[in-house]
Amino acid sequence: MVGFSPEWKEELKQNNNIVSVISKYVPLKQKGKTWWGCCPFHMEKTPSFAVNEYEGFFKCFGCGVGGDVITFIQKIESCDFYDACKLLARNAGMEMPTYFADENVEKKKKAMDRSYQILKDTAKYYYTNLSLPQAKEARQYMEERKLDHKTAVAFGIGYSLGWTEVVEYLKSKGYTIEEMKTAGIVEEKNGKVYDCYAKRLIFPIITSHGDVVGFSGRVIRKEDQPKYKNTADTIVFDKSRCVYGINQIKRLKREHNLHEIIIVEGQMDVISLYKSGVQNAVACMGTALTAYHAKEMKKFTDKVVVCFDGDNAGKKATLKSLDILIKNGLNVYVVALPEGLDPDEYVQKYSKDSFEQLVSQAKYWVQYLIDYYADQVDMTRPEEKQQFVANALSVIQTLSTSSEQNIYLEMVRDKTNIAIDVLKHDLQSDIRPLEHQPKIEKQEEDIKQNAYVKAVRFVLSSFVHKKEYAKLDPSIKENLCNPDYIKLYEYIEKCHLENKPVLIGSLYSLFDIENNEDLQAIVNYEFSPTSDTEQYYHDCVKTLKQYGLEKRQMELTEEIRSISDLTERRNKMAELQKIVMERNKIK
Ligand code: UTP
Ligand code: MN
Repeated sequence: MVGFSPEWKEELKQNNNIVSVISKYVPLKQKGKTWWGCCPFHMEKTPSFAVNEYEGFFKCFGCGVGGDVITFIQKIESCDFYDACKLLARNAGMEMPTYFADENVEKKKKAMDRSYQILKDTAKYYYTNLSLPQAKEARQYMEERKLDHKTAVAFGIGYSLGWTEVVEYLKSKGYTIEEMKTAGIVEEKNGKVYDCYAKRLIFPIITSHGDVVGFSGRVIRKEDQPKYKNTADTIVFDKSRCVYGINQIKRLKREHNLHEIIIVEGQMDVISLYKSGVQNAVACMGTALTAYHAKEMKKFTDKVVVCFDGDNAGKKATLKSLDILIKNGLNVYVVALPEGLDPDEYVQKYSKDSFEQLVSQAKYWVQYLIDYYADQVDMTRPEEKQQFVANALSVIQTLSTSSEQNIYLEMVRDKTNIAIDVLKHDLQSDIRPLEHQPKIEKQEEDIKQNAYVKAVRFVLSSFVHKKEYAKLDPSIKENLCNPDYIKLYEYIEKCHLENKPVLIGSLYSLFDIENNEDLQAIVNYEFSPTSDTEQYYHDCVKTLKQYGLEKRQMELTEEIRSISDLTERRNKMAELQKIVMERNKIK
């Protein structure tokens, strides 16, 4: 979490009534203490999206999202925590905290803002060039590639007239050469300053917030090199994080028109698909896909379709990207384009409908990999067939349920004629997964620990959800094994001491609940009529103490073994004795 003080965050939240803020996006109706509406984060016709004004939080009983007013803004505006706070602060007429006025941070922010400004002006400048008489060649090129005016506007496509025009223009707008260099617009060679993208068709690279952060320039003459020139990394541009076309994705999401994201290799593919009516494509612009790219996409969708070029390089890039996408929680599908075509060429040669059909028939990644491995071998050769089985099984091994594994084992059986029981047997023996395949470790399930986790969650939930039977007890705190749980318990203690209610909305200021499964479980705890009793609460407290004591006993025993100092040893033994006695008491 960004370093705002909890007090400031609380003030921000108090000044932004959660019901009024959410009402700007979702019509809400009050029923009793709760306000209800249709969830803006998933499709639904009957309201299951609840907003609790007093507690300061929202929760959707359909898709499970929840949070405080800041999280809501993060989700609905697809922005980060800092920007959500900024928006809400503006809403409430509050100043952003001076914490950020740290000299270096402030300096960097200023430089960044200046870069955003100059990049925006430059993009506008390149764009207006396109209609000048000197841009005839560029317009011709666009015509050849079937890029119409509407598409050019949608992507802000522009043109650089020559080596120094942009330099003169930006000077006239009051920018220094240093600022142009910092933003990655110009470079200096032999004391002369040049446009990095001279005589190229310009594609501005735009973030989901609508900021121009860099450019990609394509040559318009075949003989010129290199084909594309992209902005080098700058204070506002990092190619390993930038997803080309993500601004269009954000718009679609806002319009409730986004079902999935199609990932292609080049920006011309994005643009060409857009022109033909497929608006949900993005590109990583020639760099390998990174976890940052995946996370950026995950902000907008759970499903992605990888649609790289139909050549060998495209296939290799597909294999590499799968692992990253899956690890970042995306549902991944793959389209294999035929005849070595890229999406641009495909949609031009065939049609939008034909492309959309390919996408709708995209293979789930597991099936894609199995088919891919099968294509690599000659099944009539035993050793190659065996290689295929090993590859396929190592993919299937990563699936978490037996039924899912079975579906794909059947595919392997059909391809190899090896009986399913034999395949299952091999699956259980240890086959080392290949490098590029997702390694999802099956966790050893410790029954005792599970019972403890369940108990702790119930006990802490009882405090958070204000159950009367939940009573403070120091030995609860002593036996909490997770630092976040201890911090939560201390917060509860503090609230009791100050005679204040424990508000769920406030927990979002104290913790990064979004990324913390344990705390999410507590905030979203669903009490059942059978568990919601004093008796169950006491049972859970008992389980919690037993486990905690046992753990401490084990740790202490271990520790004592390595102590040679007699007095120290005696002290520890006494401590151990106490624990054993306590354990006996609660049995
Ligand atoms: P491709 O070579 O597949 O180009 O590179 P493309 O997308 O089909 O482009 P057109 O149709 O020839 O115009 C894919 C991506 O790799 C990056 C670009 O971002 C491009 O979109 N690339 C390619 C470079 O950065 N530099 C290059 O010289 C070539
Ligand atoms: Mn192409």
